[in-house]
Amino acid sequence: MNYRDKYEEYRGFAEEILREAAENMGCLTPILQEGISYSLLAGGKRIRPVLFLAMLEALGGDYRTEKNFPVAVECIHTYSLIHDDLPAMDNDDFRRGKPSNHKVYGEAHAILAGDGLLSYAFGILIDECARGARAVAAAKTLSRAAGVRGMVAGQSADLLYSGRPLGEVGEEELRMIHTNKTAEMISAPLEMAANLAGKREAEAREFGLALGLLFQITDDILDEVGESETVGKTLGKDREEGKLTCVGLYGLERANALADEYALSCLETLKKIDGDVSFFEELVRRVRGRNR
Ligand code: IPE
Ligand code: IPE
Ligand code: MG
Ligand code: MG
Ligand code: MG
Repeated sequence: MNYRDKYEEYRGFAEEILREAAENMGCLTPILQEGISYSLLAGGKRIRPVLFLAMLEALGGDYRTEKNFPVAVECIHTYSLIHDDLPAMDNDDFRRGKPSNHKVYGEAHAILAGDGLLSYAFGILIDECARGARAVAAAKTLSRAAGVRGMVAGQSADLLYSGRPLGEVGEEELRMIHTNKTAEMISAPLEMAANLAGKREAEAREFGLALGLLFQITDDILDEVGESETVGKTLGKDREEGKLTCVGLYGLERANALADEYALSCLETLKKIDGDVSFFEELVRRVRGRNR
């Protein structure tokens, strides 16, 4: 099967299980149910669940039996987007081609929709832990990547280093932001698949962090030169908000050169993974060249 069809197969499965999860969440107020479904079912590339499902298959597993882990990953990612767009954070009015959650439901309800998604994710992770040590390891991987030693820390640093003059903040701070706010949550699903397959997670993590850095460099580039309609977000916001980004620090040309370097390092680290990784080789090229 070619890459595009395979991606669509994984993405379709992810959409199916996310819809099921949204329907079965059982929120006790209609606005929670609506607000959560609004963001969770708004499309998006679904790259994190796709990475999980594809790595599980590459390591010899049957991805169709794993629903809670990929749903948990995407719920946490979606909550991070809802909160990221709030006026107190990036103040973004568009997300996934639609008005941001708080533009529709108001800030207070958007905060709660994010809280609800995060709590739901941990509930279904705990359900899985009854399966034993491998599942516990996968749940721990996600909880670490999502929190104060991962995505939340990266978001904290992103705010802390915004609006500061270059020189005062630089390469080290940028790497700290990119690694934590983005790369940890890109790497986590790959590591979780390794955890569940009973394989070492080190190689998956090395690849995942490189891919995550590439993913955020291209996100920074798209904010500068992308097409708003295609990306589905308001662009030019990083510059406006004085964010420390790859483009802001190095300029567009060096940012593009760095993206090429990271794409190569992704392909190098991929070789260390014992399994059929051809899908990931093409995925790296597509992430490098992405326009959304
Ligand atoms: C956006 O993530 C936030 C970043 C970490 C750059 P995605 O680009 O994966 O957004 P969706 O899920 O496709 O909307
Ligand atoms: C956010 O990074 C990463 C998250 C943890 C949500 P950005 O702020 O650059 O993501 P976008 O550009 O709004 O999607
Ligand atoms: Mg942000
Ligand atoms: Mg943002
Ligand atoms: Mg961005």
